[in-house]
Amino acid sequence: DQDRSYRIAVIPGDGIGKEVVPEGLRVLQAVSARYGCRFRFDDFDFASCDYYLRHGKMMPDDWKALIGGHDAIFFGAVGWPEAVPDHVSLWGSLIQFRREFDQYVNLRPVKLMPGVPCPLAGRKPGDIDFYVVRENTEGEYSSIGGRIFPGTEREVVMQETVMTRVGVDRILKFAFELAERREKKHLTSATKSNGISITMPYWDERVEAMAAGYPAVRWDKYHIDILAAHFVQHPDWFDVVVASNLFGDILSDLGPACTGTIGIAPAGNINPDRKFPSLFEPVHGSAPDIAGKGIANPVGQIWSAALMLDHLGETDAAAAIVAAIETVLAQPHLRTPDLGGPADTVTCGRAIADALR
Ligand code: NAI
Ligand code: MG
Repeated sequence: DQDRSYRIAVIPGDGIGKEVVPEGLRVLQAVSARYGCRFRFDDFDFASCDYYLRHGKMMPDDWKALIGGHDAIFFGAVGWPEAVPDHVSLWGSLIQFRREFDQYVNLRPVKLMPGVPCPLAGRKPGDIDFYVVRENTEGEYSSIGGRIFPGTEREVVMQETVMTRVGVDRILKFAFELAERREKKHLTSATKSNGISITMPYWDERVEAMAAGYPAVRWDKYHIDILAAHFVQHPDWFDVVVASNLFGDILSDLGPACTGTIGIAPAGNINPDRKFPSLFEPVHGSAPDIAGKGIANPVGQIWSAALMLDHLGETDAAAAIVAAIETVLAQPHLRTPDLGGPADTVTCGRAIADALR
């Protein structure tokens, strides 16, 4: 966007989504005042269980037209299992966005922040700072397969991994471009071509072909088993880690788990072609156990706002938000209870917004 003004579809969803999304917006307003980008926020009440209880469905029939023209979707969390089964709420909303808007990249930063106890011994802020880039549309999570002779001794079950050249190349391209923009310019590919002897050698082949177009990027690959071990023992080795759907699913939980609490982890569901809006959300859910108490950690939501700005090309503003989060987390009295602090959601959110002014 040349004029640096962005239309954002805001969907708080359920539970603490409704408490942390306003803090994300507060921080976006603060960053906009300082960095000269402008936002138009359009609020939507669908993709929530409240909406479902009123309308008998998670979203209106024209949801795609309502939010498909926006520059991005800023999403809280969906789910209220007491009222609506999780598979209904999730498949009726978030999964629809990911599929219909071809958000084929799932992006998760893995960064050790000050004030967050690290489950790995001897690590301090600065030691762990990388991204997991997960393929989000094909691979191991295919619907090709079936079961024959069910319930008999001849029972056979199969599910095929599907890798397309288009699908593999586009995720690799995103990952190499990300690595090229970063200081270390280092890409690691997750593979298992010793055991999965057809699709994974193909994946490796495409990595090698793609790498030829990015001479500035140093790259390596590890089998997924030892790679998981390295995440724990040598998290400082990584910069951008790219993986298929299944391997990426596992690594994108393991990575953030190595850096502490779920309350601060953000995620992007990205359509790099920009044909459709991308969606930015915290990794956590609606947390019914603490919803309504005003004590949810807003950092995951606020960090998601930074990922969104990165995607929109507002990289200075994005970096400023991450720095403001670090400044605030370093102060014990501004941390929320999940980090052992006394601050409520609004106090923490305001402090991050103030740090940006
Ligand atoms: P959850 O992430 O909502 O909560 C897990 C635990 O972490 C809870 O004890 C919660 O209090 C705590 N927690 C989560 N976020 C926090 C925050 N910001 N600050 C402080 N503590 C926080 O996962 P759970 O309980 O498995 O799921 C609850 C609902 O959320 C379900 O309906 C589930 O389907 C949905 N969900 C939605 C997601 C999404 O919208 N992308 C992702 C994960 C779950
Ligand atoms: Mg997962």
